[in-house]
Amino acid sequence: MAEIKFDGRVAIVTGAGAGLGKTYALDLAKRGCKVVVNDLGGARDGTGGSKSAADAVVDEIKAAGGEAAPNYDNVATIDGGENIVKTAVDNFGKVDIVINNAGILRDKSFLKMEEGMWDAVMAVHLRGAYCVTRPAYALMRENNFGRIIFTTSGAGLYGNFGQSNYSAAKMGLVGLMNTLKLEGAKYNVLVNTIAPVAASRLTEDVMPPEFFEKLKPEFITPLVVYLSSEENKDSGYVFNAGIGWYSRTAIMIGEGTIIGDGKKEIKAEEIMDNWGKITDMSKAKETQSVQDTFAYMMPVLSK
Ligand code: NAI
Repeated sequence: MAEIKFDGRVAIVTGAGAGLGKTYALDLAKRGCKVVVNDLGGARDGTGGSKSAADAVVDEIKAAGGEAAPNYDNVATIDGGENIVKTAVDNFGKVDIVINNAGILRDKSFLKMEEGMWDAVMAVHLRGAYCVTRPAYALMRENNFGRIIFTTSGAGLYGNFGQSNYSAAKMGLVGLMNTLKLEGAKYNVLVNTIAPVAASRLTEDVMPPEFFEKLKPEFITPLVVYLSSEENKDSGYVFNAGIGWYSRTAIMIGEGTIIGDGKKEIKAEEIMDNWGKITDMSKAKETQSVQDTFAYMMPVLSK
């Protein structure tokens, strides 16, 4: 088995003071990567803060002979994002890899979902990914190398009761990836997204205890490390991962049907009559960009 190494590479892992992010930072460092360990050290809902979370992971990396620098900034601010990237540049000269992992939860059913809960979750997950990735992407473009990982969730991809804020933010990251994969392609900046299932403080009260024990964060680490490596040449993919199960998931387009000739008025009754064909996914395909959807309309567009 060819070994995956990160000698000379520099990674930023956000929210790396605990849970999944910590396992990514430790494994990358073990493989020769210089790592910025970002974590503001707050509670599960994002309140509070302490330097000790990031410091402990940096100490652990250094004790094992690796190189790491702590950063305590909030990913959800422009200054925070810039300072996280600056920490990488000041300590290690560049940024090759960004793993957007920091996250919080504020769960409530939709009617009880107050503005503050919505805004806080959107800020950390979606705005946070923007604030950190944008300054890092500028450097990656210059260096003609970049690997970016976003962290979505089954809640966003498939839905989960009581997590409308989190689901919206997490699916927003897939949209961000879909466009950044196109913009980054010619600069060798590859962007992928993972949907993990793992034991952490975020999931301790949502998973049955007998599952919680088994779903070790370390099962997610190898996928993230591979996606961060030079060996990975794929971009724009979304992956499920948990307890050794790895699978790609995708947004598909059904073949659908064309009603009319592009000129005549189409009535709601015709939608009703064609509902089976419109909703049929038996010949569904993936697309690479919004332009691909034009192929489906071409029979009428080209008339
Ligand atoms: P965790 O709570 O153990 O780790 C998240 C870390 O992010 C914490 O150390 C926290 O201090 C840090 N953080 C929170 N807000 C921050 C901010 N504004 N700036 C900097 N750091 C901040 O949770 P876990 O499970 O390791 O989560 C990691 C990521 O994986 C999150 O994005 C989460 O939404 C996602 N995820 C986790 C799943 C799971 O099964 N554990 C399922 C789906 C997604």
